[in-house]
Amino acid sequence: MSTVGGQTGSAVINGELWGERARDWAELQEGNRRPDFDVCLRRTGIGHGSEVLDLGCGAGGFCRLAGGAGARVTGIDAAAGMVDIARERVPDGRFDVGDIQFLPYDDRSFDVVTGFHSLPFAADPLAALRHAARVARPGGSLFIVIFGREDRNQLAGVLRAIRSLLPSQHSSAPGPTALSGPGVLDNLLTRAGVATVESGNVEKAYEYPTLDTALRAIRSAGLTLLAERTAGDAALTDAIASALAPYRTAGGGYRLEVESRYILGTP
Ligand SMILES: C[S@@+](CC[C@H](N)C(=O)[O-])C[C@H]1O[C@@H](n2cnc3c(N)ncnc32)[C@H](O)[C@@H]1O
Repeated sequence: MSTVGGQTGSAVINGELWGERARDWAELQEGNRRPDFDVCLRRTGIGHGSEVLDLGCGAGGFCRLAGGAGARVTGIDAAAGMVDIARERVPDGRFDVGDIQFLPYDDRSFDVVTGFHSLPFAADPLAALRHAARVARPGGSLFIVIFGREDRNQLAGVLRAIRSLLPSQHSSAPGPTALSGPGVLDNLLTRAGVATVESGNVEKAYEYPTLDTALRAIRSAGLTLLAERTAGDAALTDAIASALAPYRTAGGGYRLEVESRYILGTP
């Protein structure tokens, strides 16, 4: 599958990692993000005829919902495996393999530009936000979602366990919580020329019926795959299972409370 626009090293690496287990992501992990998607639909007013761009669209879960609300959807993701699934699920959408740091779209061409847990993986998130502001129409919306405060994110221990297994040159690589510190995303948006309209939190639970399902879901993520390649299957399984243990339910599944933070802005 060909790639549109330019690409940085971080997008090439992320594309390869996130593409490998894209079907597990789509089937077992993406559904835990549904509350983020629903809040976005409500707060942006996406509806019939809206032109929507989703940055780091993954397997197209949000685009499917936005398309269902009547929007014309475009998604871009570095992982060809993700984009294949998005195209299957949303045949009317446009999906590109590319880098959110080099958006290949015309200025002022979208009413709403969204990014769900994708900006923190960019080596240069400011470049991605500047492009997002460029392709949004004046008076349009940017809706960016990231993980919220660490003390309100029960996945934090799992993420720390995975990070501890990464090779040293990747131990500080951009990852899921890179923009979650106080004011970090707000500051980047201001520098990208985006005015905040509102911000808020989305409370949700990540739920897995069995340990096997939890492991497959968590192991579909890019950084986790890198940890697996470095430390091996057994060490990774042990690390994730130990970090999940406090969240085991009486029924033998797992339930972790996770808070996301969103910012709705306008260029
Ligand atoms: C945590 S997943 C989120 C996927 C989707 N937004 C969702 O919520 O289901 C992060 C996604 O960002 C993509 N990604 C990471 N860095 C990227 C980059 N520089 N350009 C485009 N996509 C990127 C990955 O391939 C992956 O699909």
